[in-house]
Amino acid sequence: MNLDTLVDRKNTDCVKWDALQEVYGRDDVLPLWIADMDFKSSPKIIEALIKRAEHGVFGYPTTPKSVFKPFIEWNAKRNGLGIDEEWILTCPGVAVAFSIGVQAYTKEGDGVMIQTPVYPPFHSAVKNNNRIMVENELVEKDGYYTINFDDFERKIIDNNVKLFILCNPHNPVGRVWKKEELEKMADICLKHDVKIFSDEIHSDLIFKGKKFVSALSLDGKYKKILITAMAPSKTFNIPGLYSSIVLIPDKNMMEDYKKVSDGLAIGEITIFGLTAMEASYKHGEEWLANVMEYIEDNAEYLDTFIKENMPEIKYRKPEGTYLGWLDFRNVFSTQEELDDFLINKAKIGLNSGETFGRNGEGFARINLGCQRAILIDALNRIKNALYKG
Ligand SMILES: Cc1ncc(COP(=O)(O)O)c(C=O)c1O
Repeated sequence: MNLDTLVDRKNTDCVKWDALQEVYGRDDVLPLWIADMDFKSSPKIIEALIKRAEHGVFGYPTTPKSVFKPFIEWNAKRNGLGIDEEWILTCPGVAVAFSIGVQAYTKEGDGVMIQTPVYPPFHSAVKNNNRIMVENELVEKDGYYTINFDDFERKIIDNNVKLFILCNPHNPVGRVWKKEELEKMADICLKHDVKIFSDEIHSDLIFKGKKFVSALSLDGKYKKILITAMAPSKTFNIPGLYSSIVLIPDKNMMEDYKKVSDGLAIGEITIFGLTAMEASYKHGEEWLANVMEYIEDNAEYLDTFIKENMPEIKYRKPEGTYLGWLDFRNVFSTQEELDDFLINKAKIGLNSGETFGRNGEGFARINLGCQRAILIDALNRIKNALYKG
């Protein structure tokens, strides 16, 4: 599969390319925003879907445990995880799962902690459910983000925090949290009876030399406060199939989660979601290895291009994910100016930094899950708009 081959996604009802007018107010921006990739999914997944479609009857599905076998084996092999099939539930998206988590493990007025800058639906899941959003702001130095653990604990105590939504690896800053960092957070949560929702949707997207550590791989004592979400959606570029997985080892936590998801009649995923999930974890390894190599090359290309051509923009290659976090604070004094520059002058569609939190102001998130030609086009658009006016 040649990943340089452009795939025309226009007029496929895809939000990234077909909703530009609504999102950016014009339809001539080059989109490198929402987190899906412009590559075709693995041929094995496409084949499995075609085969299922050809059957022609699309009645209500059942979810046999065997569907999860490839997922369990994948995680055993890659992450050393021993996943018990009793812990597994399906859900139509990780964003659905953490919203259910907020409802299941907290009540109105409780504090829910997130680490900003972070994926905007973390914010809305808290706010839309009338919980108090508590921010443990990540600390940035030269583009590298770390955790202020004193602030983490203080905010938990001061704000009646009952749930912490962890993003590992972190969108948008690209940190793959280390075991020590995870343990420190988990210890504080355990001490103050705070549950952890570990969103590990980016866990398969790790760059060379870095190792993903799942919260589930930590000491067993944390399992009583832990719910973890994973999915084939980012990994194999099938987010439109809405097939995700939540893992809940603790029986009480499982019961509380199911009370909410059953109450909303949410949980089942479609037959195409199930088919693709099984095929991805069974056959997707080689495809993923190629894609990750390509994306890492994109990240390196971006790094070199910025250093050589527009050094006032700061970028640090992430440890994982296919997202890049561009720091324009030396160039523009407000987010409004930056957004206007990107949309109306450079004519590219990125994610505005401030949607990730106050400390995202002055930044923009770029999606590197695209063909090199798209990335080069985007970078030249920025460069030309910066220097040619
Ligand atoms: C950290 C994180 N969680 C969840 C999601 C969305 O997941 P889903 O499409 O499964 O709801 C994204 C998508 O970008 C994400 O970055």
